[in-house]
Amino acid sequence: MDDHAATMEKIVSLSKRRGFVFQSSEIYGGQNGAWDYGPLGIELKNNIQRAWWREMTQLHDNIVGLDAAILMHPRVWEASGHVENFTDPLVDCKKCKSRFRADQIDQEKLAKKECPECGGELTDTRKFNLMFKTSIGPAEDSSNTIFLRPETAQGIYVNYKNIAQSNRLKIPFGIAQVGKAFRNEIVTKNFIFRTCEFEQMEMQFFVKPGEDVKWFDFWREQRWAFYQKHGIRMDKLRWHQHGPDELAHYAKDAWDIEYEFPMGFRELEGVHNRTDFDLKRHTEYSGKDLQYIDQDNGNDRFIPYIIETSAGLTRNLLMFLCDAYEEEKVADKGNADDWRTVLRFHPKIAPVTVAVLPLMKKDGLAELAQEIRQELKEEFMTDYDQAGAIGKRYRRQDEAGTPFCVTVDYDSKEDNTVTLRFRDSMEQVRIPRSELVERIRTEIKNYKRI
Ligand code: GAP
Repeated sequence: MDDHAATMEKIVSLSKRRGFVFQSSEIYGGQNGAWDYGPLGIELKNNIQRAWWREMTQLHDNIVGLDAAILMHPRVWEASGHVENFTDPLVDCKKCKSRFRADQIDQEKLAKKECPECGGELTDTRKFNLMFKTSIGPAEDSSNTIFLRPETAQGIYVNYKNIAQSNRLKIPFGIAQVGKAFRNEIVTKNFIFRTCEFEQMEMQFFVKPGEDVKWFDFWREQRWAFYQKHGIRMDKLRWHQHGPDELAHYAKDAWDIEYEFPMGFRELEGVHNRTDFDLKRHTEYSGKDLQYIDQDNGNDRFIPYIIETSAGLTRNLLMFLCDAYEEEKVADKGNADDWRTVLRFHPKIAPVTVAVLPLMKKDGLAELAQEIRQELKEEFMTDYDQAGAIGKRYRRQDEAGTPFCVTVDYDSKEDNTVTLRFRDSMEQVRIPRSELVERIRTEIKNYKRI
């Protein structure tokens, strides 16, 4: 196993051990392409989602939210081009039965129809549609076919007129949505990087034709800044512009933000100029007029252009985990305790913000610590741990990425002070209990990763 695979292995194992991510249906041998988010995982996922939602809707006056249904009218997917174009090239090995994406294997072997695993004969390449098909209602005939959405974007397009009218929105404006998407991926590997069930955070920005390039540049800058603001190591990010043969069927221009995962640089989020492709197609397929009426410009009518920012929420979670993960030497005693595993999450992203730890369970310290936790709870996500040596408890919190620990000791009973311990520097300060909330608030606001 190379170093990169070993790092991923450690992250997968930490995720399971600490309850971030579990394999779906594990007791039945696991379900490929599906994962479950445990207590720490769901807090982390919620925090990433909240940060994105705040960024989009709270900090931009002209962006509103939506939560559209996963099941949509099947004509949506004809109009969007997904029925025809949302395919991957697939080959199977006739001997070992392995299945590959033809564009992801050695092209010389593909040309010779030779299996990269066992050398057996490969089938011809065929197009495989990634949409999950099911049927609605009791009869399973083709008239009842329905798809699980492969992107959240279409729910926004079909609602754009409803939203613009009900909220009296003027162009340019955006609609943001977070939700599940499903793709029948041929190859699912690298933990939660590429899965069949995942979540997206998408924002569609509606602009005047001709102003699309300006807004495309604007949104690229905004999305880059988002990661910087949330503590990601910026040398791990880069841009990748799609070449003509990579562009999706709807895009005029597309740039990906790529992150250097343990397996290399991979797509994290895409910013796409989708032009008027989607709304034109929905006009054609639905027969409804989806033009925008520009009342400020003599009732000028046009189909808006759309700039899309499309990030995977679950892929972001993997990115935040990989970026936070560090093994640090903290002592030189020649044993395993010399090292600590620490997740250096930004405090706004960390699943738990503060852990309260009584030095001892006895002499009223546990009760006092619980009382302090009650106070902190109103403001922060907290944890409480009274089991084992204090050093071990700090390590447990480091491994969960908790940025602050509050320790309650005998002095606390006398003078109402506590110890505040910082995850990153491991420094400790003594402060009055009455100043705790304000101090933690300030530390979160001024947080810089070391
Ligand atoms: N609406 C445009 C769209 O869906 P995409 O590039 O296919 O564009 C956007 O997907 C983002 O969704 C990707 O950058 C990635 O973060 C996430 N994503 C796509 N497929 C995924 C999968 N199978 N598993 C996890 N995340 C996925």
